Amino acid sequence: MLLLIQNGTVINPADQTETAADVLVEDGIIKKIAPKQKVKADRVVDATGCYVMPGFIDMHVHLRDPGQEHKETVETGAKAAACGGFTTIVAMPNTKPVVDNADVVHYVHNKASDVRLINILQAGAVTKGQRGEELSDIEAMVEAGIPALSEDGKTVMNSQLYREAMTLAVKYDIPVLAHCEDANMVKNGVVNADKTMKKMGFAGISNAVEDVIVARDIMLAKDTGAALHLCHCSTKDSVRMIELAKNEGIRVTAEVCPHHFSLTSADIPADDANYKMNPPLRTKADVEALRKGLKDGIIDVIATDHAPHTPIEKGLGIKKAPFGIVGLETAAAITMTELVDKGYLTIMQMAEKMSYNPAKILGLDKGVVEEGKAADLVVFHPKKQYVIDPAEFKSKGRNTPFAGKKVKGMVMATIANGRVLYERA
Ligand code: DOR
Ligand code: ZN
Ligand code: ZN
Repeated sequence: MLLLIQNGTVINPADQTETAADVLVEDGIIKKIAPKQKVKADRVVDATGCYVMPGFIDMHVHLRDPGQEHKETVETGAKAAACGGFTTIVAMPNTKPVVDNADVVHYVHNKASDVRLINILQAGAVTKGQRGEELSDIEAMVEAGIPALSEDGKTVMNSQLYREAMTLAVKYDIPVLAHCEDANMVKNGVVNADKTMKKMGFAGISNAVEDVIVARDIMLAKDTGAALHLCHCSTKDSVRMIELAKNEGIRVTAEVCPHHFSLTSADIPADDANYKMNPPLRTKADVEALRKGLKDGIIDVIATDHAPHTPIEKGLGIKKAPFGIVGLETAAAITMTELVDKGYLTIMQMAEKMSYNPAKILGLDKGVVEEGKAADLVVFHPKKQYVIDPAEFKSKGRNTPFAGKKVKGMVMATIANGRVLYERA
């Protein structure tokens, strides 16, 4: 099977090149990257005016499978990912049951191979049932193929237990993906702790709720030598601490989500829970710090924290609705519109944050466009404009604050392991 992706501009973060070339794919592998190739291909994808980039890798996705398949399944999540240009995703373990043993890891991986769309990796929980009391069966989950440990949705509040988990992560050479939120400080907070939110009658989540755990986790990484990856950073002091830690040589990397680098709490319309997520939307100063952190290389990754919930739950209003918004089908366009188009990132940096760096952190041989590598690719048009319409999402989730937003940057085709999984008509 020969696939030819014609007339695009190939972006390869590995050697920082941007080249006008056709990409020839044979049986799932990139065979030749060269201009104007004359071959009789079985299928041709026209990439005129587009970038041909390494398929996006989302390190932070909630698939809700097993246990809440009415919100999302491995299959609907994979389809949503393909629509968004993602060829690999890491599923978080806060499912029902929690992914704290090899059986549940196998369940998700088997389902992913049955679905046979993008690459899906399942992260393992740090503690049994995410209860924070006893370590989960980490060795067996490593054998089952988890790429990382994460207690996402919760923080392991027992520092000694977390230290033991980090020591095991070093032994098995996997990163720890950390959701930083002090469980005792958050209380009944639902939005950022600021004047506007207080006036609206909502209890706040202060920056310190995140910052104190970021500080602790960095110190635990220093103590254990673990590769610590900080999830969905939202505060300006997180960025400062990450910079300090990196300067000290501590193994820390970090991600930011599109909503956190593009929206503030002031953007929340009255009681709309599609703007409720954890961590919450912060202030302008925080957003500026996150953008600058991305630009300066302090923040390594853009991840979505794709968190589907039902319209009924999200209709309950900010106080009662669950935290979380979907993101797989809007991330690339929001990044293009808010960061690349506004001069914070180059297209090369976008490819680094959305593919190359996640691959490096996860230890995957991906995130590049090179001959001999798996053909995980996205054809991305940087100039096409459209209005985000959740009714078009492949995800079961419609909970997005970006409905009706005019964006620039369209995923035209997604190819995983040489198969065209999505092509925009
Ligand atoms: O907004 C969030 N949603 N934050 C989390 O930490 C969990 C996630 C979810 O699972 O819905
Ligand atoms: Zn989280
Ligand atoms: Zn999450």
